[in-house]
Amino acid sequence: MDTPKEIFLKDYKLPDYYFDTVDLNFSLGEEKTIVASKITVYPRVEGSSFPLVLDGEDLKLLSITVDGKELKEGDYCLDSRHLTLPLPPSGTFTLEIVNEIYPQKNTSLEGLYMSSMCFCTQCEAQGFRKITFYQDRPDIMAKYTCRIEADKSSYPVLLSNGNLKEKGHLEGDRHYALWEDPFKKPCYLFALVAGPLESRDDIFVTRSARKVSLRIWTPAQDVPKTAHAMYSLKEAMKWDEDVFGLEYDLDLFNIVAVPDFNMGAMENKSLNIFNSGCVLASPETATDGDYAAILGVIGHEYFHNWTGNRVTCRDWFQLSLKEGLTVFRDQEFSSDMGSRTVKRIADVSSLRNYQFPEDGGPMAHPVRPHSYIKMDNFYTGKILSSLALNVPVYEKGAEVVRMYKTLLGSQGFRKGMDLYFKRHDGQAVTCEDFFAAMRDANNADFANFLIWYSQAGTPVVKVTSSYNAEAHTYSLKFSQEVPPTPGQPVKEPMFIPVAVGLLDSSGKDMPLSSVYHDGKLQSVEISNHPVYTTVVQVTKKEEEFVFADIFEQPTPSLLRGYSAPIRLESNLSDSDLFFLLAHDSDEFNRWEAGQELARKLMLSMVADFQQGKPLALNPNFVHGLKCILSDASLDKEFIAKAITLPSESEIMDMMEVADPDAVHSVRKFIRKELASQLKAEFLNMVLANRSSEEYVFNHPNMARRALKNVALAYLASLEDPETTELAVHEYKTATNMTEQFAALAALAQHPGKSRDDVLADFYSKWQHDYLVVNKWFALQASSDIPSNVENVRNLMKHPAFDLRNPNKVYCVIGAFCYSPVNFHAKDGSGYKFLGEMVVQLDKLNPQVASGLVSSFSRWRRYDENRQNLAKAQLEMIMSTNGLSENVFEIASKSLA
Ligand code: PHE
Ligand code: ZN
Repeated sequence: MDTPKEIFLKDYKLPDYYFDTVDLNFSLGEEKTIVASKITVYPRVEGSSFPLVLDGEDLKLLSITVDGKELKEGDYCLDSRHLTLPLPPSGTFTLEIVNEIYPQKNTSLEGLYMSSMCFCTQCEAQGFRKITFYQDRPDIMAKYTCRIEADKSSYPVLLSNGNLKEKGHLEGDRHYALWEDPFKKPCYLFALVAGPLESRDDIFVTRSARKVSLRIWTPAQDVPKTAHAMYSLKEAMKWDEDVFGLEYDLDLFNIVAVPDFNMGAMENKSLNIFNSGCVLASPETATDGDYAAILGVIGHEYFHNWTGNRVTCRDWFQLSLKEGLTVFRDQEFSSDMGSRTVKRIADVSSLRNYQFPEDGGPMAHPVRPHSYIKMDNFYTGKILSSLALNVPVYEKGAEVVRMYKTLLGSQGFRKGMDLYFKRHDGQAVTCEDFFAAMRDANNADFANFLIWYSQAGTPVVKVTSSYNAEAHTYSLKFSQEVPPTPGQPVKEPMFIPVAVGLLDSSGKDMPLSSVYHDGKLQSVEISNHPVYTTVVQVTKKEEEFVFADIFEQPTPSLLRGYSAPIRLESNLSDSDLFFLLAHDSDEFNRWEAGQELARKLMLSMVADFQQGKPLALNPNFVHGLKCILSDASLDKEFIAKAITLPSESEIMDMMEVADPDAVHSVRKFIRKELASQLKAEFLNMVLANRSSEEYVFNHPNMARRALKNVALAYLASLEDPETTELAVHEYKTATNMTEQFAALAALAQHPGKSRDDVLADFYSKWQHDYLVVNKWFALQASSDIPSNVENVRNLMKHPAFDLRNPNKVYCVIGAFCYSPVNFHAKDGSGYKFLGEMVVQLDKLNPQVASGLVSSFSRWRRYDENRQNLAKAQLEMIMSTNGLSENVFEIASKSLA
């Protein structure tokens, strides 16, 4: 391998040439596919003479023609990555290129490839260059037509972006379709699908009364499982009109589900392509979690039509411009469709589990990175059962967008969005352009807000408070620190919006009238309406805010709704936290108070465990949870979240030296102790929340199931005959996958006959459904049972396993890495397994392989023995011949 080249944001240059129209012609075949392109090219500066450099990888060039004249060798240069025309004509010209590709041999799932019986494409970020020679960069926006020609019986359905213009028969049992996309787009949004598919069809009437045909394409047998996806799509279309005034802009919207896909889904213009795991669901085969994920991903891809497609990114460093914004939009959509608090809790947990650790490790990078070797690596970082996602760009990016809304309010945010579209529709722009639209639409003073895009690391904010009983003032002193990250040893203070409320001694919100800042008194009240939450803007290293007219010592509720992606360290006592847990009007902060108590408790018990002291559970904690359990005024899903302990990885992330065994033992001990002390309550919760009716996907029903399932899992941890039997009973009588799988999972944590029996039963029941089989894989692979690595190696020999299918890799190899005790096994067996897998996978699919290597990146956080074992695997990976750039980047940065 040549030493891979690093690409820098600061080196961005405008292209020398633009493309106006692109006409593509595909002749799909079993041995090879012929691609012919006809592009009108014009120079950015009239009369300039620059070489035209096209990207192209793994292509066989057949011919090039300029203005109808075929070029001879010597008229152009071709290497393994580029096709260069040293002397293109001046002015506008027509470039025609014919090349050959081999989709049947493409295992990278990038460019044109086969998934089961279908041809399909994935072009983001840089897959288009594996289809034909092109300036493969998002600031080249052109109008496309696409003609597809294929065997009629094998590939009856032929799809591309835009509107169908023409279709017809051809000689030799072939046929063709001609598609035209009226909107300019970058090539990463190009898509083509051809295969034996059937569709669920529906219609959406837009607010200006246009009828849009909606089609969801799958193999015939899966069409019944697309009802929820269609529901989600229509809800998303309506929501975007209602909340942002954004209407769909074509007469047709297609979604195609394919089983082989590296990520969750892709927002290609009017032809979204999805991982089938993010589309297909039925009550019998999918859980509430799957239903909610489908709603979110369908919404996400649909929302990209405006935030991503109509307004796109100038270059790939700006990825968060579309992803952070679109994740924010899908989070808001899901909140409006279900419970806002529960959604926020889930998103914040995800930040803590994935973003915080990454932000503190060798792969830390800002929301807008300064450089990269392989762009693909900005999409992965977190691998869930069937999804891979980059947390800094996607989720922290969404937090940055959320802060604009917190600072400007809903209406101000909407004004900013309107201005953004007004200014930039049809353009490829930057994060500053978004910032400027928000600022200008509101005449806002955003001080140093832009640093959120360029500075990596999670800010640590310390708060101390004091009450002055004579002056009736209450002071909050903030100090902030951003820890150093690779390449950024010194950090500047950031602009941190902190939403604050103050509780009186009865637990009620105090009205906030005014606050002194920098010696100036600012009114908080809005036209005599009492205000209970105000947002203070922390912009300096140290800063004080003093609340006036506070007539008793309050308990502060800080960072309400998690108003900024920071670590907050306060001087709240345990009794303050119990008080907030019981009373805070901000439901998110009620949950947070309980989590903070649990984190403190778990960390101190981990220390006891390490010192060989006996473990004992604080009775106040048990009492606090018991109160939550029996509070009938609370939402059931909220209760389910509130009684769930912080994850092992969240606790490990807070330790000087992460100790997976200690954290695991402590968490397990607390769970079992809670189960035995609250057994009656948990039993009651299971019995009172059983399903009585058919499965419905709505908040009350999901909340009921969530609570029942959490209670059942606690009970099963007792491993006594009574509770085991109850779990087996729930497994056998379940009428939907949510409850069936929860019972299975509860049993699967404990080795023994019950476990073996239900796992075998589940497989024989569901072996015909690969998505359910994937759940069965993931459950076993992520299990904490001792020495699970051997079971995982055996799972890979199972006939249903396939190393070429990313979902299966994520469900088996990826899921294994999420069991800290097994992945970080002292003997190095987990590391060795992952090392072998990375090397093997890299040859098939570098994107998937590099997603897995990330599990090694935090190796320095562990003890010396583990460090050595993990480092040895990273070095082994680095010394492998023919390593991909994807894996090279992550492995080398991890070692640096
Ligand atoms: N742009 C896709 C999304 O937002 C993610 C993706 C990236 C998919 C790269 C495939 C490849 O969901
Ligand atoms: Zn996206």
